[in-house]
Amino acid sequence: MDRHTRQRIARLYQGSLQRGYVRGKLASDPVYAAVAARIDGTALPLLDIGCGIGLLGQYLHAQGHHQPYLGLDHDPRKILAGQRAVQRAGLDAMMRLQQADAAELPAQQGHVALLDVLHYLPAVRQPALLRDAARHLSPQGCLIIRNVLREANWRFHATRVEEFFLHASGWISGGAQHYPSAGELREPLEQAGLEVRIEPLRGRTPFNSYLVVAHHPR
Ligand SMILES: C[S@@+](CC[C@H](N)C(=O)[O-])C[C@H]1O[C@@H](n2cnc3c(N)ncnc32)[C@H](O)[C@@H]1O
Repeated sequence: MDRHTRQRIARLYQGSLQRGYVRGKLASDPVYAAVAARIDGTALPLLDIGCGIGLLGQYLHAQGHHQPYLGLDHDPRKILAGQRAVQRAGLDAMMRLQQADAAELPAQQGHVALLDVLHYLPAVRQPALLRDAARHLSPQGCLIIRNVLREANWRFHATRVEEFFLHASGWISGGAQHYPSAGELREPLEQAGLEVRIEPLRGRTPFNSYLVVAHHPR
């Protein structure tokens, strides 16, 4: 995504702090491009669970992906910021953001995204959310998860330090509850009949992030 487009999207949000965050995130985080690559060529709707301020939807639209986008997040401040941005961009017809907990998914099937969300749920809720996300996949849909995985390495420790500062800043309320292992992610998805692929997705960060892509056998 070019600089001009990043600036245009950032101006949809309020305040210099949030605009700076949006510019930086779009410039440095490879996850949105990774999602775009997985849903390319399909018109299926996308359900973005824990959508934050709806940046994935803005990114996809700017890159020419015009399928319906529904973002859910339990934080009313982020949903309001995201809704304002959608209105400013004139994207009300294709992008919707709603305040909801991840436990209350609407009846929609298509692609599903779960980006940097899972670890905010306690361990006991994670398999249920993964199974629920799998049920929201259509036969051609892709479930795309990005998360830090629990591993005994320095990247995992760097992640926990970053999470401490994020929580202290107030940007994410509640804080991290449980970082899943690769096995904990894989098991409920495979039990739901999905093929699962897990690969590192760190970009230029020191964090122990992985991309998990799951879909029905093709
Ligand atoms: C690190 S942010 C990621 C935002 C977005 N997915 C992205 O990558 O741009 C994690 C988001 O998950 C949301 N979240 C955490 N627990 C949630 C839950 N139980 N239900 C809905 N949203 C949740 C937080 O409010 C926050 O916006």
